Amino acid sequence: MDGTILVTGGAGYIGSHAVLALLDAGREVVVVDNLVTGFAWAVDPRATLVEMNVADPRMSDLLRAHDIRAIMHFAGSVVVPESVSDPLKYYENNTAATRALLASAVAAGTPHFIFSSTAATYGTPDRVPVAEGDPTVPINPYGMSKLMTEAMLRDVAAAHPMNYAALRYFNVAGADPQGRSGQSTVGATHLIKIAVEAATGKRNAVGVFGTDFPTRDGTGVRDYIHVSDLAAAHVAAFDQLAAEPARSHTLNCGYGRGFSVLEVLDAVDRVTNLKLDRRLESRRAGDPAELIADNRAILATLPWRPERDDLDGIVRDALAWERRLGEREKGRQG
Ligand code: UFG
Repeated sequence: MDGTILVTGGAGYIGSHAVLALLDAGREVVVVDNLVTGFAWAVDPRATLVEMNVADPRMSDLLRAHDIRAIMHFAGSVVVPESVSDPLKYYENNTAATRALLASAVAAGTPHFIFSSTAATYGTPDRVPVAEGDPTVPINPYGMSKLMTEAMLRDVAAAHPMNYAALRYFNVAGADPQGRSGQSTVGATHLIKIAVEAATGKRNAVGVFGTDFPTRDGTGVRDYIHVSDLAAAHVAAFDQLAAEPARSHTLNCGYGRGFSVLEVLDAVDRVTNLKLDRRLESRRAGDPAELIADNRAILATLPWRPERDDLDGIVRDALAWERRLGEREKGRQG
């Protein structure tokens, strides 16, 4: 296999799944993570874990020492409301840290860069499904910090021998179907994570944030993508960047269909055979009614096809992981 991949944020939720996908594809992997929100135990032992900030000046030496072919850059801050109350944290951890990482990559001559971008770069889209060429008008510092990084990537790739893929994630959910990783974030705010926490007794109820949206049942509609499909898209993006070094890509990562909050909760009820307590609440600030990916570009560009486009399956995998987390916590207390 040609070359080692460096995964920043590989101890986090999505990064740890990318590490698994790369290792399963026979790649060598070095993880760089500062373990502020990630967990060392989430990194598969076949990968090398380096505890370090991505902006650390030693990064270029690390890239050279391992002859890194590509950086998959997952590390960053991801909580939208926090980005509103502490914007400079987001411009530091997402934008400035990536600038430093890119400087190391340029210094070391790293040829490929795969970046975790987000549907939050679109803000409130004028139309759904939203396509990559549609206006990007972020409505919070999180989205802006990622959009600024996309701009840096474009300019760096024009000036230096590097190409990149900016992958704009929609709503990532689920867990490794083999139970090797999942979302372990403490204090998570994501709907499916919250719902499986409620299903495993960690919460009493699930709030439904807004019932008066112009959608089929009044609740918010999102394009939920299985984290293992998303991880596979990263592996495919690397192969594409290596095959065609003169081209870079900005691609939506979603399935191109949406489910409402109530439909998601129905799925959780079906999978668990429970009836979760739903509390109808008012809208959360800044939530668009509907966010669905136009995914024609990724389907046309990468040899990637959704394999887990099944809401019940996503919920089943998320639930299995939540139960494992519960066992792990019990084990620690006992
Ligand atoms: N929701 C609830 N109750 C909850 C949690 C969420 O009703 O307890 C609703 C939200 O209002 C929304 C939907 O469920 O309609 C999904 O909410 P999430 O918080 O799971 O996800 P978001 O769509 O708000 O956020 C996602 C990503 C962000 C990204 C954003 C915009 O997680 O990183 O999309 O692209 F910024």
